[in-house]
Amino acid sequence: ARITLRQLLDHAAEQGYALPAFNINNMEQGLAILEAANEVDAPVIIQASRGARSYANDLILKHLIDGLVELYPHIPICMHQDHGNSEATCATALQYGFTSVMMDGSLEADAKTPATYEYNVEVTRKVTEMAHWVGASVEGELGVLGSLETGMGEAEDGHGFEGVLSHDELLTDPDQAVEFVKATQVDALAVAMGTSHGAYKFSRKPDGDVLAMHVIEAIHQRLPNTHLVMHGSSSVPEDLQEIINKYGGEMPPTWGVPVEEIQRGIKHGVRKINIDTDNRMAITGAIRKVLAEKPGEFDPRSYLKPAKEAMRALCRQRFEEFGAAGWA
Ligand code: G3H
Ligand code: 13P
Ligand code: NA
Ligand code: ZN
Repeated sequence: ARITLRQLLDHAAEQGYALPAFNINNMEQGLAILEAANEVDAPVIIQASRGARSYANDLILKHLIDGLVELYPHIPICMHQDHGNSEATCATALQYGFTSVMMDGSLEADAKTPATYEYNVEVTRKVTEMAHWVGASVEGELGVLGSLETGMGEAEDGHGFEGVLSHDELLTDPDQAVEFVKATQVDALAVAMGTSHGAYKFSRKPDGDVLAMHVIEAIHQRLPNTHLVMHGSSSVPEDLQEIINKYGGEMPPTWGVPVEEIQRGIKHGVRKINIDTDNRMAITGAIRKVLAEKPGEFDPRSYLKPAKEAMRALCRQRFEEFGAAGWA
């Protein structure tokens, strides 16, 4: 059944676990997430970016979600807008059956320019009011996703900002977080602690200099009842890099967010962990393998089925690692 983000995360907080939030763009990804959740009895957060909504088409996406909800009636499913950039994006998501929206007011509506704190509060407050009228949840974001290694902030399209920000400007300020949550009444807060979207987060296994988990601890101390969200939280597993490169891919060596760091975050109020890149890598590795080993194949099912299987296995692993198994 459909459920809001707030309901899911309240339960996760009571029981001390967290939920992975997986991005969806197509049917295979939807089936992979639900098959994994069904295997381990985990509640589900599916999220669609603006890019996903335009790729899949809002109406197709709506019916895909309806289908998944009907296919797995015993699994609680939250459908979440990832990185909404405006009131309009959030409002139309709700019209299409989403039960939760992220208003990412850390960037201007162009999704490229860092926004002022005042703009962020104003637009997030308006979205929260609207979403709460219709019983939906809201995630806000304070701080700039980006790399503490390069000092580069990150626009939603994955490209860096012009100019270089200092460490402090890239991290969420814990005192401002208290003010922001009070002013906006968000149900969950995405915080910036040195992660970025995509596969190229860190040039070595991250330590406390580049992955600032202490920011999460400081925020949780001040806001013990606010559900925290980690973006850019793919682990970029080495085995998936190897599969991609073995079958013709070219991914330079790279590091993501180690699962043990995420597990540390879960002890300090992190309840939603956004993962897209790991699933993209699982899918791409599986497809490359089939196409390399069987160059005569041209039935899409011959590679989409293994792709779905690879994503299912990754999703299952994250449900288990985050303590979400058994709660559906
Ligand atoms: O926010 C980042 C997610 O990985 C979604 O990416 O905007 O390319 O669909 P996307
Ligand atoms: P990754 O690119 O690390 O998977 O992060 C996804 C994300 O934060 C979506 O909002
Ligand atoms: Na989100
Ligand atoms: Zn994100």
